[in-house]
Amino acid sequence: MTLLAGKTVLLIIGGGIAAYKTHDLVRLLKTRGASVRIILTKAAEEFVTPLSLSSLSGGKVYTDLFSLTDEVEMGHIQLSRAADLLVVAPVTADLMAKMAHGLADDLASTALLATDKPVLIAPAMNVRMWRHRATQRNVEALKRDGVGLVGPNDGEMACGEFGAGRMAEPGEIVDAIVDMLKPRTQPLAGRKVVITAGPTREPIDPVRFISNHSSGKQGYAIARAAAELGAETVLVSGPVSLAIPPGVQMIPVETAEDMLAATTDELPADIAIFTAAVADWRVAAQAGQKLKKSAAGPPTLTLAENPDILATISRSGNRPEIVVGFAAETENVVEHATQKLRKKGCDLIVANDVRRDSGVLGGDRNTVHLVSESGTENWPEMSKDEVAGRLMERLAGMLIKQQGPSG
Ligand code: C5P
Repeated sequence: MTLLAGKTVLLIIGGGIAAYKTHDLVRLLKTRGASVRIILTKAAEEFVTPLSLSSLSGGKVYTDLFSLTDEVEMGHIQLSRAADLLVVAPVTADLMAKMAHGLADDLASTALLATDKPVLIAPAMNVRMWRHRATQRNVEALKRDGVGLVGPNDGEMACGEFGAGRMAEPGEIVDAIVDMLKPRTQPLAGRKVVITAGPTREPIDPVRFISNHSSGKQGYAIARAAAELGAETVLVSGPVSLAIPPGVQMIPVETAEDMLAATTDELPADIAIFTAAVADWRVAAQAGQKLKKSAAGPPTLTLAENPDILATISRSGNRPEIVVGFAAETENVVEHATQKLRKKGCDLIVANDVRRDSGVLGGDRNTVHLVSESGTENWPEMSKDEVAGRLMERLAGMLIKQQGPSG
């Protein structure tokens, strides 16, 4: 018995020379015990034929959204509903753009939009198309939507160029399918994780405020990872323009004082992670009306210190079992983080370098150092999603060590 026995895979074949490899993919999937249903895009029909694929898969190959008989036999919604997983191989730059933007103008894209099943894509395209900013933007958007990615591999391409763009081999695609279908362990099921994220906004008057450049990306990625590990996940977020990750409850706040109140309301929790870039100061007396220019010159703003949310909660009677702070530093990163660990009373500081040229603020990548009383761990540069996944796995492990597995 393999993990694929009894599973149904809906294979969507896009238009590209790599489409010929899907013959082997279908054969491999069948050998592993999966049933395979196939949709061909119009462009794919230029490279492979419904007849050859239908004889290999032993089933009908679907090609036309508006074929009435197909709709009666097995409509597009049904096609994606009956599958355990959808795999798009090869996925072209065009099809990825459609997926990223939710377009649905043919059978393939409609089935992809109509599904709530896991989706895996195996890109194949010219290296320049793959590296193009638009394609990379779409890849990131799809990853954020939970779409799995296998390949592309480096190598010589049909167009004569060399680089990243070759579709993953059928064996690699099957391995990726097996991995996606593996039952996920949920070590944080029954636990609660509270995360602060984004900037705070401290009003000066009804139209102006003090804020900062925090994008909220790292905090949102951590919330996603916590929810994926099964935690009841609450994200107390300042104003950002990010989608709320699946399974996460988001509580919108503006000021540091609101953030503290909303976070305190969510206690008790097992883990609290403070990624928010909280403004250190607020304007002591917010003007009731818009401040006007006057001959007397610019107004003087008197600032008052904001509450330190992390330090307050770390020292509260309701302290979560594990409290994690972030430290954005521009120099002596680890040294400052170690001081912060003690000052704030948390268990772990995730320190990162936010010098202007580091690309961390607003970017998708991060290089972090985990600073705790037992020492410092330097992690290599990785995406904010990877940092989030690794960090949550680590925190889940620490929690289970301290409390034992949940009931
Ligand atoms: O700004 P600072 O370097 O002190 O931030 C370190 C950590 O403290 C971060 O995790 C941040 O979210 C948290 N913090 C907070 N409330 C503040 C200031 C910082 O929770 N007022």
